[in-house]
Amino acid sequence: MEQTVVLIKPDGVKRGLIGEIIHRFERMGLKIVAMKMIIPTQEILHEHYGTHKEETIERLGKKTLASYERFGRDAKKELGTDSPKELGKMVVEWLLNYVSSGPVIAMVVEGRHAVENVTRLAGPTMPVEATPGTIRGDFSTDSAAYANVEKRGVSNLIHVSGSIEEANFEKNLWFKPEEILSYKRADEGI
Ligand code: PPS
Repeated sequence: MEQTVVLIKPDGVKRGLIGEIIHRFERMGLKIVAMKMIIPTQEILHEHYGTHKEETIERLGKKTLASYERFGRDAKKELGTDSPKELGKMVVEWLLNYVSSGPVIAMVVEGRHAVENVTRLAGPTMPVEATPGTIRGDFSTDSAAYANVEKRGVSNLIHVSGSIEEANFEKNLWFKPEEILSYKRADEGI
């Protein structure tokens, strides 16, 4: 069975949406096989997002620049730079401050095509692009454009693994093997 990692970020926890979010995974037939509440350190978040690597920082900077262009805004005027590296560093700081700002629920979700199904339930990373019916589309209106102007991370409620490889990496980062349990759901096989 495939497994994927979900983090309910501090905005989801503080808005009382833990149950609402977990309910959607369970309702689909997916199973929670590990779960804990923690306040993540900056170190684990750097590992998680790969933001100790120059290439990740630059990629985030380029994406931010692209979203500025799409919304017809001037990054240099608003943020003081249009260098992907400098923008990337800013975004990483906002992202890490946001995700470490309070309790996070970390969980491993298991089931058929868990990575793909959880990604679809979550909706696109930017809530403005997420359709109603998805977690981000139902509970957030945020976008990089607003978050960057306000110099904060995008309040997109959850992080979900983007691929099976990413899920395996994140599982090992957030959980010890003995924290991931095995059991049968009553409706398995139906
Ligand atoms: S990448 O480079 O493909 O991994 O980027 P992506 O998955 O899109 O984004 C990685 C995380 O960075 C957050 N993000 C941002 N925060 C603030 N401002 C801007 N402009 C921005 N762009 C991306 C995004 O929410 C991703 O975090 P998760 O937890 O995966 O949602």
